Amino acid sequence: MKSKLNVGIVLLPVLFLLAAVIGLSTAWTSEAENQVEENSLVESLKNLPLGLDKFMVIIPEDNPLDGITGSKKVELGRHLYFDSRLSKDNSVACASCHDPKKGWSDGQQFSTGVGGAKGGMNAPTIINRVFSTLQFWDGRSKSLEDQALGPIQNPIEMALTLDEAVSKISQVEGYKQLFKESFGDEQVTAERIGKAIASFERTIVSGNSPFDKYESGDKTAMSPSAIRGWGIFRDNKKGNCTSCHAGFNFTDEAYHNLGVGTEKPGWEKDYSGRFALTQDTKDKGAFKTPTLRNIVESTPYMHDGSVKTLEEVIEIYAKGGVKNEYLDPKMKKLDLTDQDKKDLIAFLKALSGDVTKVTVPTPLE
Ligand code: HEC
Ligand code: HEC
Repeated sequence: MKSKLNVGIVLLPVLFLLAAVIGLSTAWTSEAENQVEENSLVESLKNLPLGLDKFMVIIPEDNPLDGITGSKKVELGRHLYFDSRLSKDNSVACASCHDPKKGWSDGQQFSTGVGGAKGGMNAPTIINRVFSTLQFWDGRSKSLEDQALGPIQNPIEMALTLDEAVSKISQVEGYKQLFKESFGDEQVTAERIGKAIASFERTIVSGNSPFDKYESGDKTAMSPSAIRGWGIFRDNKKGNCTSCHAGFNFTDEAYHNLGVGTEKPGWEKDYSGRFALTQDTKDKGAFKTPTLRNIVESTPYMHDGSVKTLEEVIEIYAKGGVKNEYLDPKMKKLDLTDQDKKDLIAFLKALSGDVTKVTVPTPLE
């Protein structure tokens, strides 16, 4: 222990020198590095990792990702996504609540916005959003473009008006070139901010997991326990999970009431879910089926972040959800042994794969 400490002290000046050299060299090569980053991000979408279906990619016609303008837009979006100047007190960026280091979520039950403000919903991961149209737990946003402008204006998240956001970004000299290369001229508009951030988000994908390798023929890629778990997951007389977590992204893109949170009084008002949009009683307390890819990384779970572990998630399903008047008819008590439960968890862990690697950009000046 002690000797390690001494080595640390001796190494300290050397480390400082090294840091200075690296700092200098990044200043020299940053343009070249940005180029690599831009290309590799768009590339990750063009050559989707194993297991993802390229025919299911959703890119709106009015926000294409082709060619040089496409990759410039992604690059612009990467900068905006990590830029805390998009918040009132310059303290919160998209990445604060959807952090690449925390499975593109934030590891908290409720996220913290400007001035320490707390909301009542759990921040979902933003991986594989390119496969969905509707966004948010209740699907209230019709596209990623539209969604991106929500948190900027949300008083408990980034707390700016769109005019303020546009004006703050316009004042940053370094953004001008990127706006020009992405959209033809330097003008900053809210619509362009939304389009750029959405383009960046579309490149964040996860695939090539042990499960994908197993499915493509490598029978050694998953443990025997995970293989049994996969069987339980899709067996409609056992786990019946695929009846909602369907397809390669493990979601039916639909809304279901599992009853989570309905034991708390007032839930019908504060957590009405999809009902708030449809006014259809069957949507009361119904939330979107989330993807299960890289699920171990995005604790805690469920729309209200009330479930801390995968073990607890499985217990909820084993009991058939939390009883309430609007419980989804697919939710039934499950006949699972302790080993079945362990196998399901081993399977869920096998859904963690390669996520697009992103370098956090140096803020533009
Ligand atoms: C203060 C924390 C916070 C900040 C900042 C924040 N988000 Fe979120 N984000 C959330 C929460 C919480 C939700 C879920 C809210 C809901 O569904 O009602 C969410 C939902 C989303 C979703 C929907 C995902 C899905 O599966 O439907 C996307 C996409 C997203 N945010 C992207 C962004 C972008 C882009 C930014 C920056 C412009 C941003 N977020 C800023 C907390 C945050
Ligand atoms: C009736 C549809 C349905 C079935 C069946 C179902 N799920 Fe879900 N699952 C959902 C919905 C909807 C949510 C989000 C619910 C909420 O937030 O209140 C969810 C959430 C989860 C989560 C937490 C995800 C997160 O990001 O917070 C996990 C893990 C999960 N389900 C695993 C499973 C497993 C394992 C099974 C089978 C035993 C299963 N699900 C069966 C619809 C379903």
